[in-house]
Amino acid sequence: MTTTRRATLVFYSAMDDFGAWQTALAAAAPQIEVRLAEDIEDPALVRYALVWKPPTGFFARYPSMQLVINLGAGVDSLLGRTDLPALPIARLSDPAMAQMMAGYVLMAVLRHAREIVFFQRAQRASRWSYRHPKSADQTRVGVLGLGELGGVAALELARQGFDVRGWARTPKTLEGVACVHGLDTLDAFLAESQILVVMLPLTPETTGLLDRKRLQQLPRGVCFVNVSRGTVVDEAALIELLQSGHIAEATLDVFAHEPLVADNPLWAMDQVLITPHLASVGLPATAAPQIAENIRRVESGETVLHRVDPARGY
Ligand code: NAP
Ligand code: GLV
Repeated sequence: MTTTRRATLVFYSAMDDFGAWQTALAAAAPQIEVRLAEDIEDPALVRYALVWKPPTGFFARYPSMQLVINLGAGVDSLLGRTDLPALPIARLSDPAMAQMMAGYVLMAVLRHAREIVFFQRAQRASRWSYRHPKSADQTRVGVLGLGELGGVAALELARQGFDVRGWARTPKTLEGVACVHGLDTLDAFLAESQILVVMLPLTPETTGLLDRKRLQQLPRGVCFVNVSRGTVVDEAALIELLQSGHIAEATLDVFAHEPLVADNPLWAMDQVLITPHLASVGLPATAAPQIAENIRRVESGETVLHRVDPARGY
């Protein structure tokens, strides 16, 4: 371990590759030392944290911290902590992350729209089952949440020719996407969605937003995609509606409790695709420059970009 007097960024993530982030940040912000907590000799030099779900008490060791950067888009786990210092929080805002998410959402929507579950069942039975495909414009896809990731995914679906509708908190204009906003419009929005894609942040307003009553507003035979957070949805109601066939199929990347326990009934449903919370991740090469820009801004007393509003929850 070498002694350093340079301003330091402490990194924590159990999911991400520290070496890749260290390399990318060394190129983007060479004036900053990037270290794991255990390799920091002088905690007073730590001015920045780039973290995904650090352990409780993590921040207390760094009295000179100026900026917390969430290593991801969703800040619910950070804002939900009781030990978060009263500092600016920035999220990752990475075009490559948005592109990766749009790719996942497109995969999920195409899988449902092109009836792949039906063909997989037929294949397992060695049955040649022709079903004439519908064109994309015959499928109404509703996207809940039109933010940095949701907006890009909605545009990608529109580019593919789907009949895309989007729902957000405030008015939005997205080419090829019919946008509505506000809670008053939600029930009607749900009722017209043949495929629903959930891309909302988890906040006090969105926790349990898709409760049993709202899920029942979806038309029978709907396909359901959740890449947001598990607790935006009443998971027990979702399971029951999948069992009853009201919800025909689902693609689920997020769950109320992760990892999903082995006896969760979702595992056994062949109409459900389960992925372990990886629809999109922050990518060092493309995210490092915006982290470097925020560090530059802190150093020169400017306002940081991509700042999270703790009161709003995202
Ligand atoms: P974002 O930029 O913060 O945008 C959030 C969107 O949701 C905005 O359009 C916002 O509306 C809308 N919204 C928030 N609260 C609402 C409410 N109460 N009613 C209606 N609309 C509401 O978020 P993002 O970057 O698109 O990411 C969305 C979420 O995806 C993240 O928070 C995270 O939970 C999840 N995520 C998952 C993965 C994964 O791998 N599964 C990866 C990354 C992110 P306004 O624009 O009107 O404010
Ligand atoms: C992942 O879930 C993220 O919010 O970045």
